Amino acid sequence: MAAYYKTAETLKPGAQTLAGKYYVSSDIFDQEQGSIFSQSWLCMGRTSEIAQPGEYIVRQVGQESILLVRDQLEEIQALYNVCRHRGSRLCMQDSGKFGASIQCPYHAWTYNLRGELIGAPLMDEVDDFRKQEHHLHSIHTAQWEGFIFINLSDDPEPFEQAFNPLIDKFSAWNLPHLLSLRRIDYQVKANWKLIVQNYSECYHCPLIHPDLVRRTPYRSGQNDLFEGPYLGGFMELYDGVESMTMSSRICALPVGAFTDEQRSRIDYYAIFPTLLLSLHLDYVMFHTLWPLASGETRITCEWLFAPNAADSPDFDPDDAVAFWDMTNHQDWRACEMTQLGVSSRSYSPAPYSSAESLLAAFDEEYLKRLSTALREHL
Ligand code: FES
Ligand SMILES: [Fe+2]
Repeated sequence: MAAYYKTAETLKPGAQTLAGKYYVSSDIFDQEQGSIFSQSWLCMGRTSEIAQPGEYIVRQVGQESILLVRDQLEEIQALYNVCRHRGSRLCMQDSGKFGASIQCPYHAWTYNLRGELIGAPLMDEVDDFRKQEHHLHSIHTAQWEGFIFINLSDDPEPFEQAFNPLIDKFSAWNLPHLLSLRRIDYQVKANWKLIVQNYSECYHCPLIHPDLVRRTPYRSGQNDLFEGPYLGGFMELYDGVESMTMSSRICALPVGAFTDEQRSRIDYYAIFPTLLLSLHLDYVMFHTLWPLASGETRITCEWLFAPNAADSPDFDPDDAVAFWDMTNHQDWRACEMTQLGVSSRSYSPAPYSSAESLLAAFDEEYLKRLSTALREHL
């Protein structure tokens, strides 16, 4: 396993932090909607949230409201939450369960769970009206490791191709079978990129996370993905520390069968653009980022456990949740302090440290995607 991790990762000479405009400009935020959030595969949550036919969740990506529903063939459909008649929102709830159909609350146009128009009052009096020309607009979806992804592009890069470096990488954790037992939503006054960047380094750990650095040596990180859209690797646990929990003990039955070497590490990956995956022996934590404005991001954090986790007499999910909720608050505060600073006219790009090579890689990928899309639109 050790040889699998390459340590050839180096900081490119001259690597510097991004200019302030990337964190504060509403124009750049708008460009990101078109060039990144409308082109990338975005994590919407877990398939288990809509396990039964009719169950739905609604997600907001920029201006777009997206309806994710399990249809009667048990397939997941992603549909624009926009009626094909006069454009009303179809569904104003965040989640729920439809019967066999979705009815617009305005004039009762009715769609089946695949988005096909099946009823439109009085429209048979309109010449040439054909229901099959007015299905809800659909969105490309994919599923991976129990997560639902969507891509708003009409012609996205195939998911398997885009996610090729990750496809089987995390199979030891049995992710499709894990159950989400806890979720916390945070509202953070910081740009989404500051949150990814903060996640991708432990340079800040000694000052920001005094409890974390008692469990994991802050310079123990080794990365096996250090270029492109997927970045991360592992950090080691100190001897005697079993997991990242308040008690430093594992808090549930392991989610998989791990080697001793795997048991002494936590894996952390930033999956471009908005999924952060933290894989522990006894649970998996993930964050999804929901950029709301250049200086504001909603973050959801969920904790996944083995289906039989509660069989352990020591089962205590809150041991993990309390540890990371404390750590999350510490991180969000650091990100908010940074947002304040990079908004200053006095801020200018500065050199990254050797412990921040993933941030330089993230910035490079980000700028590449932003400029590629801008060039294509010229
Ligand atoms: S806007 Fe939906 S039926 Fe009229
Ligand atoms: Fe942190």
